[in-house]
Amino acid sequence: MTRIKTALAILIIFAVLQVAFVSSAQETKPLRESAEACEFGIGAAVNHEPLRFEKKYAEVLSREFNMIVAENVMKMVTLQPTPGRFDFTEADALVAFAEKHGMKMRGHTLVWHESLPTWLTEGKFTRDELMKIMETHIKTVMTHFKGKIFAWDVLNEAITEEGQLRDTIWLRGIGEEYMDLAFKWAREADPDAKLFYNDFNAEGMNAKSEGVYKLVKGLKDRGAPIDGIGLQTHLKLETPLSMDELRENMDRLAELGLEIQITELDMRTKNATGSPEEKLIAQAELYNNTLIACLEQPACTAVLFWGFTDRYTWLNPPGQREEAPLLFDRTYKSKPVYEAFQQTLELCPTIRAKS
Ligand code: G3I
Repeated sequence: MTRIKTALAILIIFAVLQVAFVSSAQETKPLRESAEACEFGIGAAVNHEPLRFEKKYAEVLSREFNMIVAENVMKMVTLQPTPGRFDFTEADALVAFAEKHGMKMRGHTLVWHESLPTWLTEGKFTRDELMKIMETHIKTVMTHFKGKIFAWDVLNEAITEEGQLRDTIWLRGIGEEYMDLAFKWAREADPDAKLFYNDFNAEGMNAKSEGVYKLVKGLKDRGAPIDGIGLQTHLKLETPLSMDELRENMDRLAELGLEIQITELDMRTKNATGSPEEKLIAQAELYNNTLIACLEQPACTAVLFWGFTDRYTWLNPPGQREEAPLLFDRTYKSKPVYEAFQQTLELCPTIRAKS
C-alpha cells in the first residue's frame, strides 16, 4: 500500500510541476510569438538613441515585436538635411536591426508638414520646383530602402480636426494634386511596397474621420495607388475611444478595399480619475478592446505602439514623468496591458476565424 501511495504522491507532484511549468511558459510567451500564429503585426516605434545605448531596450524590442517603425530617423529633416544630400546612417541602423531580428519594417514618413528641413521651409520655390523636390525625396528614399520596407506612410496628417485639407507647404505650393502625385511617385519608386495614408484622431466617427474617409475614397476613385490607412490611435484614458465607432469606421474603410493598421498606439493617463492601480487596469482594458476590434476586422493587419516603454515616450517632455502610456514601465517591467495583449494574441486564431 505504501508503494502505491508513494507512486501517487510522485504523480501528483509531477502534475503540479507540469502545470506550473506550462503556466510560467505562457506567462513569458512573447507577444510576437502569439501574433505570428495569425500572421498579425505587433510592433513599436523605435527611438534610435536607446536602441544604440541601452541593452535592455534592444532586448525587449527584439523579443516582443515582429514589426518596427522609426519614430524619427526616416523623416525628411533627418534624411535630406541639405538639398539633394541624403543621410541614411541612422535609418540604415534601424533597418539592419529589423533584418537581424526577423522584423518587418514600416516607413514613416515621406510627405508631411512637420520635421521638414529649414532649406525647404525657409526657401522660395515655384510649383514645378516644389513638385521636383517632393518627387526626388520620395523616389530617392524609397529606392534606397527598396525591398526592406514593406509599407510606407506616404502621406501623413493632411486633414484638419474639422475634416478639411490641412494648409501645408505642399498644398500651398502644389495644390490638391500633391496627394495624388505623392502616391503616384511612391508606386513608381517601389511597386512592391504598400502605400498608406496615416492620420490621428480619425479612429472614431467624427468630422476628421469623415474628412479622412473622403480623402482616401477620392484617391481610390481617381485611381491613385493607395493600399492602406494608418489609424494612429493616440488615446486618452479620460475620454476613451468608442469601440462601436472604431468598428464602424474600420468597416467603411475596409469596404473601400483598404488595409488598416493601428500605427501609433499610446494612451495618456495622467488626467484620468482613479488610483494608479485602477488606471493601469482601465488602460489595459481600453487597449485590449482596441486590439480585439482590430483582430475582428479582417482588413486590420497590425497594431504598433508609439514606443513600448514609459521610459521613452514623446508624451513626457524632457524631465517629465507624468505620463505612463505604454506596455512596459520605466524599468521595463510589464504592465497589465502586456498580459492582456498576451492573452488576446494567444486567442487570435479563434478571433480571426469568427470575423
Ligand atoms: O534630434 C534632435 C536633437 O539633435 C536636438 O538637440 C533636439 C532639440 O532641438 O531635437 C531633436 O529632434 C527632436 C526629435 O523628436 C528627436 O527627439 C525634434 O526636435 C522633435 O520635434 C521630434 O519630435 C517628434 C515629433 O513626432 C516630430 O517629428 C517625436 O519624437 C515623435 O514621437 C513624434 O511622432 C509623431 C509622428 O511622427 C506622427 N504622428 C504623431 C506623433 C506624435 O507627435
